Amino acid sequence: MTASPIVLLHAFPLDHRMWDDVAGALARTRPVLAPDLPVPVGSDLPEPSLEAAADHVAQVVRDAGTGPVVVAGLSMGGYVALALLERHPELVAGLALVDTKSTADTPEAAAKREGVAAEVEAAGSVDPVRGMVGTLLGETTRGARPEVVERVTAWIGEQDPARVTWAQRAMAARPDRTETLRLFTGPVTVVVGDEDAVTGTDAADHMVATAADGLLVVVPRVGHLSAVEDPAAVATALSELANRVDAG
Ligand code: MLT
Repeated sequence: MTASPIVLLHAFPLDHRMWDDVAGALARTRPVLAPDLPVPVGSDLPEPSLEAAADHVAQVVRDAGTGPVVVAGLSMGGYVALALLERHPELVAGLALVDTKSTADTPEAAAKREGVAAEVEAAGSVDPVRGMVGTLLGETTRGARPEVVERVTAWIGEQDPARVTWAQRAMAARPDRTETLRLFTGPVTVVVGDEDAVTGTDAADHMVATAADGLLVVVPRVGHLSAVEDPAAVATALSELANRVDAG
């Protein structure tokens, strides 16, 4: 039985490093790819659209020459995973939707994103999104694990402002992809931290109910960045999903 590769798609406003601990655990048993979104650092940014990010991921998978993969996306990465499924379904053998949702932004949320993008542009720095660490991490992590708070704060501070504005505008423009999820017949695992204050358990329940072959994993005492806050639990959930895929 061949071990299906796993592709890990990161959240906003972060990069592939948020998956380092999970990737380290998974790489013991299967190939792991963790591309930066929407394109490699240093490349020209496309127009803001998650479809462009999904097309880049498709190219990364094709270049790896492995055939269909298990795709795991956390939050923005989940939005990209669903765009990949819609545009390149032949590449997706299994899907993990981690602290994310399949629905579009409300008009109010989309307008708020444009406001943040404009602030970042005006500031010429990521200062307007630095405070997001407070909503990304769960209450337990914020209260008891200062080293995790510091790590995520440093990652946010190192982001390119142009990529931050790109991501806000691309996420604001994304459509509802619940129907794409409904039509997928492969295994799906939905993972959510029980302290996730961004996408939360209602969105997770909705996706599990939508998927034809969906399984819910709730990670206790972590927030929106479950893969950073409890990498062992998330790696186990992803590994079990990949085993379901491998078992056919
Ligand atoms: C993320 O973690 O990627 C963002 O919180 C997603 C979002 O803003 O919708």
